[in-house]
Amino acid sequence: MLILGIETSCDETAAALYDTERGLLANEIFTQFDTHAPYGGVVPELASRDHMRQMQPVVQAALKTADCKTTDIDAVAYTKGPGLVTALMVGASYAKSLAFSLGVPAVGVHHMEAHLLAAMLADNPPQFPFVALLISGGHTQLMAVESFGKYKLLGATLDDAIGEAFDKSAKIMGLPYPGGPSLENILKDGQAGQVSLPRPMIRHPGCDMSLSGLKTAVSTLIQQNELTDQFKADVSLEFHQAIADMLIIKTKRALEQTGYKTVVVAGGVSANKYLRKRLDDAFAKKNVKAFYPPMAFCTDNAAMVAFTGAENFKHGQQDQDLSIETIARWPL
Ligand code: KG4
Ligand code: ZN
Repeated sequence: MLILGIETSCDETAAALYDTERGLLANEIFTQFDTHAPYGGVVPELASRDHMRQMQPVVQAALKTADCKTTDIDAVAYTKGPGLVTALMVGASYAKSLAFSLGVPAVGVHHMEAHLLAAMLADNPPQFPFVALLISGGHTQLMAVESFGKYKLLGATLDDAIGEAFDKSAKIMGLPYPGGPSLENILKDGQAGQVSLPRPMIRHPGCDMSLSGLKTAVSTLIQQNELTDQFKADVSLEFHQAIADMLIIKTKRALEQTGYKTVVVAGGVSANKYLRKRLDDAFAKKNVKAFYPPMAFCTDNAAMVAFTGAENFKHGQQDQDLSIETIARWPL
């Protein structure tokens, strides 16, 4: 069965073709960094306009890479939410119209479920059950994942998401958007112990987290010091250390609560090599194995949407009518 996956929840226009027998055949992506970079963050209206312009070329490119025709497609999966409504609408309208014209099912996919299942696209995928640490630009969650579709929220950020903290802190420091990769790039030059940032909520029981205080602390540091390259690197290192310390403590609690021995870390921030190393080292001591999606499937992509659409469809889920619905805020 050949599934076309469509992703337009934020600032990436992506299309992928996933074959349930042969695996991933194409994964095309148009990244809108250049559109949003001058503003230091995503401008929803501009994102939608780019999606409108890029959707069809990106789908055509995926078909070409996979050497398939539209008539080969057996179902169209698309990101239904959560995300920017006007951006989601472009992908949802395109996907549902294409599915209707081909006479095949359309399958609405939850963006965070797609991030979570992206780890299944690795050569060595995790086995259920596991603790999922979802860290993206819009979400920061710890979940108990018993099996496909059986998810229980253990804790979440009470304010900003981790990716948001990276993006806002980078912006305050005058670093380019997106902030995560920018801060990671200068991390290697940082000297430990030069500056100090809080480890929010680590003494607070449970798995909830908080990131807005960290961002405010970065802002205070920047206001009080001369902004040299060395200083930025020192702040980046301390910022990474603070986030790693918090994630390790909270994820260990989730592991204790569930008794699970596997962690899946997913979402855009899971591309961060420093965080991966710190988490791997901490879990190894506890005999816990951490799994990550392949690098290309950490940030937004359509491969994870096509794969999740295939799983949804296998479990009997598909859109029941022709209405085009998107959901901006949607708990998993
Ligand atoms: O999953 P994603 O592509 O989109 C959402 O669903 O939000 O995540 C985007 C977020 C951005 O905040 C970006 O700065 C962050 O992921 N990010 C990173 C890295 N690559 C992307 N954060 C830290 N280190 C990275 N290497
Ligand atoms: Zn995402």
